[in-house]
Amino acid sequence: APFIATTSAPVNIACIKYWGKRDTKLILPTNSSLSVTLDQDHLRSTTTSRADPSFKEDRLWLNGVEENIKSGGRMATCISEMKRMRKELVEDVDASAPKLSTFSVHIASYNNFPTAAGLASSASGFAALTASLAALYALPSPPTTLSLIARQGSGSACRSLLGGFVAWNAGELASGLDSNAVQVAPESHWPDIHALICVVSDTKKGTSSTSGMQRTVETSALLQHRIKHCVPQRMADISAAILARDFDRFAEITMADSNQFHAVCLDTAPPIFYMNDVSRAIIAVIEEYNRVALLPENGGKRKAAYTYDAGPNAVIYAPAANIKEIISLIIHYFPQQDAFKDPFGLFGTAGVG
Ligand code: DP6
Repeated sequence: APFIATTSAPVNIACIKYWGKRDTKLILPTNSSLSVTLDQDHLRSTTTSRADPSFKEDRLWLNGVEENIKSGGRMATCISEMKRMRKELVEDVDASAPKLSTFSVHIASYNNFPTAAGLASSASGFAALTASLAALYALPSPPTTLSLIARQGSGSACRSLLGGFVAWNAGELASGLDSNAVQVAPESHWPDIHALICVVSDTKKGTSSTSGMQRTVETSALLQHRIKHCVPQRMADISAAILARDFDRFAEITMADSNQFHAVCLDTAPPIFYMNDVSRAIIAVIEEYNRVALLPENGGKRKAAYTYDAGPNAVIYAPAANIKEIISLIIHYFPQQDAFKDPFGLFGTAGVG
């Protein structure tokens, strides 16, 4: 029988942003982060891995196009770490297990969303790669252990190995062994929360996350304030809000952290701008929507939360009951945004899971 395995991993969208590394090789962050993993139906990567004694070298295809695996690079690191785990956890333990760690692998990965959409595919991509090799190698490791490997592909990828609400602990060890992803709550704890993705621009971003965050670490004093005085409290507060299913508090913290992340980008020298005029106009619409919702006669609670990653696209979190109203609002204010009605579901809602 051939040695082959296929696995999918969804995109995750951070509420408390990861921005900054204390170790660029191991990808160890300067702060903890927390995200929501979207459900498998909408934005995901699917990866097939195959090991065979006849393969001469490790090879990789992304969306059907072969990519070079740079020696010593992130992809090569993930593959060799997974082979090491296969050897230590399976082959060294069970002498009858096939020596898959000595075979080369062929890996093919597809995204079910256009890469050009400007939505991060590295998180789902490296999570799917790690999960697929873990299945191929029959590793007994739980997702939190596998997150240590996905993290070395792309930091945010470690969070996509778990569903629902996920924290990535910054950790303290130089080895990175305590810098892993853990589930705060499963999707079933709070299925009412939905994510609406508004594709403001589908062109590729100017500054990559990797180089942008490094420049922030080197030049921003505000980042040091954020790491020390803001993120730890926010991590505790948003975890409590999730456990209590308190959307108002969840929304308040999520928007504050998105805005601080973009402030830290502006505090970088030279400054980094990820949001554009449409992004900022969407913020204004959601702020006004919440201002009205916060009036005592309207219930006194926020009804939506925006968040922006390293690009202009908005992700809006809201309870299911508000999603239709929010879509009408956005279409009313931004009738020119064709991408919002894209059949790929880019302007659809994604449940969490
Ligand atoms: C703004 O995980 O893409 O989306 O670790 O260098 O690959 P590397 O960076 P990446 O950064 C994601 C940054 C972010 C915030 C987040 O997802 O937490």
